[in-house]
Amino acid sequence: MPGYIELYNLGKTYETPKGPAVIVEGFNLNLAKGEIVALLGHSGCGKSTVLTMVAGLNSISAGGVVVDGKEISGPGPDRGVVFQSPCLLPWMTAYQNVMLGVERVFPHATKQERSATVEYYMEVVGLGDSMHKPPAELSLGMQQRVGLARAFALSPKMLLLDEPFGMLDSLTRMELQEVLVKILEQDQKTALMVTHDVDEALFLANRIVMMTNGPRARVGDLIESPFEKPRKRAEVLAHPEYYQLRERMISFLEDQEHARHQPAA
Ligand SMILES: Nc1ncnc2c1ncn2[C@@H]1O[C@H](COP(=O)(O)OP(=O)(O)O)[C@@H](O)[C@H]1O
Ligand SMILES: [Mg+2]
Repeated sequence: MPGYIELYNLGKTYETPKGPAVIVEGFNLNLAKGEIVALLGHSGCGKSTVLTMVAGLNSISAGGVVVDGKEISGPGPDRGVVFQSPCLLPWMTAYQNVMLGVERVFPHATKQERSATVEYYMEVVGLGDSMHKPPAELSLGMQQRVGLARAFALSPKMLLLDEPFGMLDSLTRMELQEVLVKILEQDQKTALMVTHDVDEALFLANRIVMMTNGPRARVGDLIESPFEKPRKRAEVLAHPEYYQLRERMISFLEDQEHARHQPAA
């Protein structure tokens, strides 16, 4: 069955001074509409490489990516991207930062429609009272909320998130995870999210892709989440399978780490 989003035989070879390095090879993954998939693996295995290829920000060396029946060739408003650091324009308010993209993607909407969209997403991410502040007056967590609002306000078909909460302390991180769960559910969005946090993956994703270590990284293990939606953290933590799945993920990562230190057979 074709997926809403298809990554087929995706591969990436970087040119390096020592010659070509095959980082990702034969990476296959289909996402159903509304599905949230977490991508987990050791640092340097190629997670960002996969994500940036899907975003159209990194050239594809082999295979391809199909979004809702259309092969991608470069970035587009059908894919919203959220990185670790939101990179807001410092001379504009949070509101203006989000409006910037909305004006570009919805040039035919009225001024009222555009401001309603921006205000709606500022409220959803919990910035209703701070939307007219410049980034310098916002905490890192609030800035990342702006980053989420900016991506969702463009109504993309899918969200691509690369360790979006990686720079936040654990409490802020949990708050932002709740915001993301809520907004993904409200908008019924499809998302691919890179994380190296096992608990974050379990809390957010419908499916978890465990990536093997590079070079030639590919899908190693696939975990289906048994948790009900909408997600409630307490219910997820109390679920009888939670610790089993956590164990399985951690042993996968440990095995990968172990393999790295073994000479190839
Ligand atoms: N532009 C590049 N040129 C050469 N090698 C790169 C480039 N970008 C990433 N790499 C290498 O590819 C591998 C995977 O990187 P990356 O996708 O960023 O990993 P991850 O996000 O899983 O930590 C790493 O070994 C990294 O050094
Ligand atoms: Mg990365």
